Amino acid sequence: MEVARSIAEMRAIVKDWRKSDQRVSLVPTMGALHEGHLSLVHKGKERTDKSIVSIFVNPAQFAPHEDFNTYPREEERDFAALRHANVDLVYAPDVKEIYPENHHTKVEVQGISQLLEGQFRPQFFIGVATVVAKLLVQVMPDVALFGEKDYQQLCVIRAMARDLDIPVDVLGGETIRESDGLAMSSRNAYLTNAERTLAPRLYQEITAIAEQVSAGADIDQVCAAASKGLSESGFKAIDYIVVKDADTLEDPTPGRPMRVLAAAWLGRTRLIDNIAVPA
Ligand code: PAJ
Repeated sequence: MEVARSIAEMRAIVKDWRKSDQRVSLVPTMGALHEGHLSLVHKGKERTDKSIVSIFVNPAQFAPHEDFNTYPREEERDFAALRHANVDLVYAPDVKEIYPENHHTKVEVQGISQLLEGQFRPQFFIGVATVVAKLLVQVMPDVALFGEKDYQQLCVIRAMARDLDIPVDVLGGETIRESDGLAMSSRNAYLTNAERTLAPRLYQEITAIAEQVSAGADIDQVCAAASKGLSESGFKAIDYIVVKDADTLEDPTPGRPMRVLAAAWLGRTRLIDNIAVPA
């Protein structure tokens, strides 16, 4: 496994592969890797000859009060996991390489970025779209993979790549969960033992909503009941627990696919999760 710290080093390696027409996949990550990240790596490897994982904790997607400084950084452990997964190249630039002092461009996908997560983290998707646009243009992969765990992020990145005519197939990967249903996340490491025991409740509630809405129940009523259930079980604040159109994330309209999406706080940890409403 090769490791590149700069754009130039990374491009030299990819250029070499391209001489023999090899196809390339990219999985962008912020490290602290788990099975969710690795499932994207495997999906990429099935589709291309060479696989790249980027590790970059992107300051632009954290608000000043958020956890940029404490976000888990475990480079040696991550490299070992990626070596084990037979990744060809890890691209791990530092902040100055991605955002030199003369960097002034931001990418904003209007509309969908302002909904849901955008209401609670107003700069978040600008930071995500900017760094992902840069990574895609730097690497120029054939395929880039993102998890459905961050469903709105996947929607924003698809729109960004389409609008900027970036020639890449953006593929989604299913959410990988712990055995009790909790969606894997680097931030689960923040949970205390008591919070970790409670955490799967979020998945249980959105699963119940999906089943009930699929059976014809009133959306507002089931969401209100789920929100109450979460609060009573010990979740501190429910940012949202909603059913939306699966493509636009606007209010659902009859006959179109729907998605249940939720964000809620357990102590100091903000959990997000989502699930499809069965057709
Ligand atoms: P990060 O949280 O490290 O996630 C990297 C990728 O792994 C994202 O596409 C995310 O959706 C996916 N992922 C995380 N948990 C998952 C799970 N349990 N199952 C399946 N996939 C999962 O998301 C980011 O980093 C950043 O915003 C990034 C896209 C790298 C831009 O900085």
